[in-house]
Amino acid sequence: MKVFITSQSLVEHLSNKTRPLGMVPTMGALHHGHLSLVKRAVKENQSVLISIFINPTQFDDKKDLERYPVNIHADLCLIKEISEKVLVYVPKVDDIYGNMVESKSFDLGGLDEVMEGEKRSGHFQGVATVVTHFLKTFSPDHAYFGEKDFQQLLIIEHVVQSLKLQTKIIGCPIIRESNGLAMSSRNSLLSDDQRKLASKLFEVLQFAKSKAKKIPYGTLKNMVAGLFKKHHELTLDYFKIVDPKTLKEIHLEETVNRGRGFIAAHLGKIRLIDNLDMS
Ligand code: PAJ
Repeated sequence: MKVFITSQSLVEHLSNKTRPLGMVPTMGALHHGHLSLVKRAVKENQSVLISIFINPTQFDDKKDLERYPVNIHADLCLIKEISEKVLVYVPKVDDIYGNMVESKSFDLGGLDEVMEGEKRSGHFQGVATVVTHFLKTFSPDHAYFGEKDFQQLLIIEHVVQSLKLQTKIIGCPIIRESNGLAMSSRNSLLSDDQRKLASKLFEVLQFAKSKAKKIPYGTLKNMVAGLFKKHHELTLDYFKIVDPKTLKEIHLEETVNRGRGFIAAHLGKIRLIDNLDMS
C-alpha cells in the first residue's frame, strides 16, 4: 500500500505497469460498503486507487460537513488488510481546488433536479466537480460507485458520457447490516437505538416492493407516509418510485412494473437514504 498526499506525486507513480487502473472515490470513514467496491476493483485491475477526501463543495449544510466522521488511521488499516496493490490518495483541499473552493457547472441532464438534488442544493455539482477532477487527473480505466447513492451513480454516468471521458463507470450493489440498514459512514453517528429504528427504511422499501404491483402508486405513497407517523424521531423526507434511467416519478394511478423506490428520512440530526429495485 502506498499513500500519496499530492496528485503530482501520484501521477508520477502511474505508468503502464499500474494499468488497468481501478479507482474507488470515497470520503473515508470506511465500512464494508466501501470495501466491497475496493475488493471488486482489486479483482478486476492491476492497481487500485482509493481516494479519501471529504469534498467541501458537495455539502450544502455546513454542520453536516463539520460532523462528518474522520478516521484515517482505521481506514488505512482496513485497506491494507485487503491488498498491498492499493494506492491511497489523501489530498488536502488545496491539492484539488487551489484557493478557489467552488463547484464547476455541469449539465446534469435534469437528473439533479429531483430527490437528493432537490433537497440538497448544489450537492451534485460538487460531486461532479470532484469526480471529473479525479477522472481527468488519473484517467482510471474503471471507476466504482455504489448503488447506495443511485442518483449519484446515474449523474456520474451522464457526465462521463457527455464529457466523453474514457473511464468505464461500474455500479456495485448496496451492502447492508444484518438488520437491513444500508451501510453508511454517517451510521457511526447513530446510537444503538437509532440504528434499530434506521432499519425501518429498508423495511418500508421491502413493504412497498411487496405491494407495488398490486395497488396504485398514489395509495402506496400514502400508506408509506402513514407508517412513519408512528415514529416521532424518524421523519420521512420523501418516498418515490421513479424510472431507473430518467428518475421521473411514475404516475400516481399506476401500479409498478418497472421502477426503483427511493426513500430519505431524518433521524435526529442525521439524514438517511436508501433505495431498492421494485421489479
Ligand atoms: P462516500 O459516501 O464515502 O461513498 C463512496 C462510495 O461508496 C460511493 O460510490 C458510495 O455509493 C459507495 N457506498 C457507500 N455506502 C455503500 C454501501 N452500503 N454499499 C455499497 N456501496 C456503498 O459517495 C461519496 O463518498 C462521494 O460523493 C464521492 C463519490 C467520493 C465524491 O466526493
